Amino acid sequence: MLYFLKKRFFLLFVLFIQFGFSQEKIPSLQKKGNRIQLIVNGKPFIIRGGELGNSSATTMEIMEPIWSKLTDMNLNTVLTPIYWELIEKEEGKFDFSLVDDLIVRARNENLKLVFLWFGSWKNSMSSHAPEWVKLNQKKYPRIKDDKGKSHEILTPFSENNLTADLNAFQKLMKHIKDFDQKQQTVIMIQVENEIGMLPTARDYCSLANEAFQKEIPAELLKYLQQNKDKLVPEFLEIWKKNGFKTKGNWEEVFGKGIQTDEIFMAWYFSAFTNKVAKSGKNIYPLPMFVNAALNAPEKKPGEYPSAGPLPHLMDVWKAGGSSIDFLSPDFYNPNFKHWNDLFTRQGDPLFIPEHRFDTSAPFKGLYAIGHYEAIGFSPFSIESVTDAKKEPLGKIYELVQQLTPIIEANKGQGRIDGVLLDKENQSQIIQLGNYEFTFKHDYTLNWSDGAKEAVWPMTSAIIIEIAPDEFYISGSGIVVTFKLLKNKELNAGILKTDQGIFENGVWKTIRHFNGDQTHQGRHVRIAVDDYEIQKVKLYSYE
Ligand code: DGJ
Repeated sequence: MLYFLKKRFFLLFVLFIQFGFSQEKIPSLQKKGNRIQLIVNGKPFIIRGGELGNSSATTMEIMEPIWSKLTDMNLNTVLTPIYWELIEKEEGKFDFSLVDDLIVRARNENLKLVFLWFGSWKNSMSSHAPEWVKLNQKKYPRIKDDKGKSHEILTPFSENNLTADLNAFQKLMKHIKDFDQKQQTVIMIQVENEIGMLPTARDYCSLANEAFQKEIPAELLKYLQQNKDKLVPEFLEIWKKNGFKTKGNWEEVFGKGIQTDEIFMAWYFSAFTNKVAKSGKNIYPLPMFVNAALNAPEKKPGEYPSAGPLPHLMDVWKAGGSSIDFLSPDFYNPNFKHWNDLFTRQGDPLFIPEHRFDTSAPFKGLYAIGHYEAIGFSPFSIESVTDAKKEPLGKIYELVQQLTPIIEANKGQGRIDGVLLDKENQSQIIQLGNYEFTFKHDYTLNWSDGAKEAVWPMTSAIIIEIAPDEFYISGSGIVVTFKLLKNKELNAGILKTDQGIFENGVWKTIRHFNGDQTHQGRHVRIAVDDYEIQKVKLYSYE
């Protein structure tokens, strides 16, 4: 009897060892209040990211001197391409050695990875398709422009194209699962890269022409009807102008013109990409997203990479499938707030996989994490840094690293905000808890020579309410004053301001700020070039 009991326990133990680990929840997205958190190894995670230049991850030799730069800048995640042409050089023969090397090396540096699937599309083009795809145009057809000329863009209308991409992606996900599920180094996947149609707003290959004449897919019409009151206004307007039709082909429902051509393409790009994502998720359901090359507003569909996951097409992209978890903006143009507002207007999480690695990037990153409660930020060509140890991005990321538990504990509750300031936008007002905060650029004090310069450095801050009168304010280059929101005849004053750090999640005061540091109690300040966290307690007096 005892023998059988022991044997049963032993079997249970073996089963636990075998399956217990793999039961640990893999990286996922989770709703908290009105926001979304990224959960990694069971804990909320903010991506302090950097994306590698396009060709850096093609050999480990090139990568070797890069790793220390990444850790010197306090990154916790690297965004790196996985190139279809390199993992499936010959049809059906897969080589994942580069993938494994990247994972192992990232683990050594305590870094996570977001893989960018450079499959069928990379910046509109299909440059990363393997030779056997490129050389067999008959089997793997390209898009055609309105003159009937082919371009090096695989058409999304071909089943062969879909199967080839989907099969490679599925193999990749299976490999990641087998190799990494236990340690979860790979935390998210970008499916394709900056999908877009050029040089015309739609594809004119024979398969596309055929699809264009067909009735609009029922799934799209169903989505439109079910979400009529939530559709983005630009898109709703097109549907409305044509009489909210719920039957007919593309031109019958949306009218004739390049806007309709773009909607048509967006649907097929989305359906294709969602099918690829779904095939991968069926095996290993990591969070998956797509990124967009933002369109210059003065350009028309066909003149910019059209039909990608852009804000005016977000309903079409969402209707095309639910395997893509969110759409992300890549920033190489101005109007940071404008575009982020558009991407988040339907309550989706914000993740910025690419931002030009310029002097404004660190400050915009902190602002995004504060104001939009973003799940992460990542400048592009991260390895191009000249002096990683001195790079402001590293200093901002260090603040974010320390603040992550506090940010995530307060996420989605209306207790976090951010400001982004420069010479053109010198001040910003925030209402949080019982107070109205006026954040100004540090140079508005006129205390430093820099204030006389024609251009002021961009600065930013995050503010987190942790108790009714208590806040963390962190960032660089800001000066803050306070007012009471309700009882306006009372004054608001600083009861206590401490500068400190979080050590293993525990707050440690370094300096008690008073005297000159708070202008004798008049303001909270973090000078330009300083990077601090301050814990501020306010009070009111008559
Ligand atoms: C956006 C793309 O997504 C990146 O891969 C890269 O090509 C940059 N543009 C520009 O270098």
